[in-house]
Amino acid sequence: MNFQLTEEHTLIQQAAREFAENALKPGVIERDRTQTFPVELTRQMGEMGFLGMMVSPNYNGGGMDTISYVLVMEELSKWDASASVMVSVQNSLVNWGLEKFANEEQKQKYLTKLATGEYVGAFCLSEPEAGSDATQQRTTAIDMGDHYLVNGTKNWITNGGRSDVYLVMAQTDVEKRHKGINCLIIEKGMEGFEIGPKEDKLGIRGSDTHSLNFNDVKVPKANRIGDDGFGFKFAMNTLNGGRIGIASQALGIASGSLERALEYARIRKSFGTEIINHQAIQFKLADMATEVEAARMLVLRAAAAKDAGQDYTEYAAMAKLYASQVAMKCASEAIQVYGGNGYVKEYHVERFLRDAKITEIYEGTSEIQRIVIARSIMKRAEQQLA
Ligand code: CAA
Repeated sequence: MNFQLTEEHTLIQQAAREFAENALKPGVIERDRTQTFPVELTRQMGEMGFLGMMVSPNYNGGGMDTISYVLVMEELSKWDASASVMVSVQNSLVNWGLEKFANEEQKQKYLTKLATGEYVGAFCLSEPEAGSDATQQRTTAIDMGDHYLVNGTKNWITNGGRSDVYLVMAQTDVEKRHKGINCLIIEKGMEGFEIGPKEDKLGIRGSDTHSLNFNDVKVPKANRIGDDGFGFKFAMNTLNGGRIGIASQALGIASGSLERALEYARIRKSFGTEIINHQAIQFKLADMATEVEAARMLVLRAAAAKDAGQDYTEYAAMAKLYASQVAMKCASEAIQVYGGNGYVKEYHVERFLRDAKITEIYEGTSEIQRIVIARSIMKRAEQQLA
């Protein structure tokens, strides 16, 4: 077992750290207040290669491994989880799904532009009545021969207002339940496709979250990913990797909270000394550091399993479940270390707590992760007993 990062890993980690400090940190409080994320910053993230990290160079990507991706995600999330969710959705839910399951024509048309950041992508599974219970898709894609006619609504879609490419899950054959779902590539501007209002959120306020409406949208059959009825499997497989991305986002919020708390504890004085000299503060920092390291191990374990071609479903769910809990705890403890200053926006840590909460919800709530883990360990136990 080797716990050392390679030189390439350290270099990309350093580049992401500098980008987060120099490009994301300035303006992050204002972006949180105004719920905006400038196109220019997206362009810069594309230029840095962050929007197509794991895509093969054959499709203009960086050809990096999942370890590199989680290292970058952690660093970006230390300052701006709104930026990092965009990186996560683009890499894990859009690019990975296309590279793994789309045909060559679709890859040339879409993936080559997504990998450079010229295009932004969105993954559209959730609906008003299908969140955790994702098989219950109400959006329909009626087979009309050479095209599908798509009708319905999607909710809480990351990058919803600004994407070029939308991967939309829709029900073609209700009788077949989840085996009747297809994933269709819907382009910005297709007739009948409307972007709904932007959500006013608790956290990740810089991230662009919208509902989407489809009214008789004609989608060519050529835009279906995989065989007829493959859409639910597409979504589940893609989300397995997405959960590693969100776990690394949660890890970044947690380790960012620890870094900020350490910084502040070294300068803030009370009772005649810097507060870091008080054991009450030291114990908080010790607990935070231990839990951050445990979360990091789970995130790296999941990433390493994916890179090794092993089944990573259970590891990804464990990493997301645990890292999101640690993010909540560390952000809350960082506020406690900052005291009154922690409760105001200027010191960042209150945003960390608001941003942390979504990591327990999107890409499968903590309850869904427990279902995934429990099913996996029960299956293993059955196999061992058989
Ligand atoms: N990986 C691969 N395949 C999976 C899978 C997984 N993690 N989970 C389920 N499947 C497969 C099953 O093997 C099954 O296949 P077969 O029919 O061939 O046997 C099929 O999918 C249906 O699965 P189940 O019978 O287990 O269905 P279920 O309804 O009992 O449970 C669920 C499914 C695991 C609860 C699933 O609905 C789920 O993961 N829900 C959470 C949805 C989610 O994560 N939403 C996030 C929205 S996206 C988002 O947040 C993006 C963003 O913008 C940030």
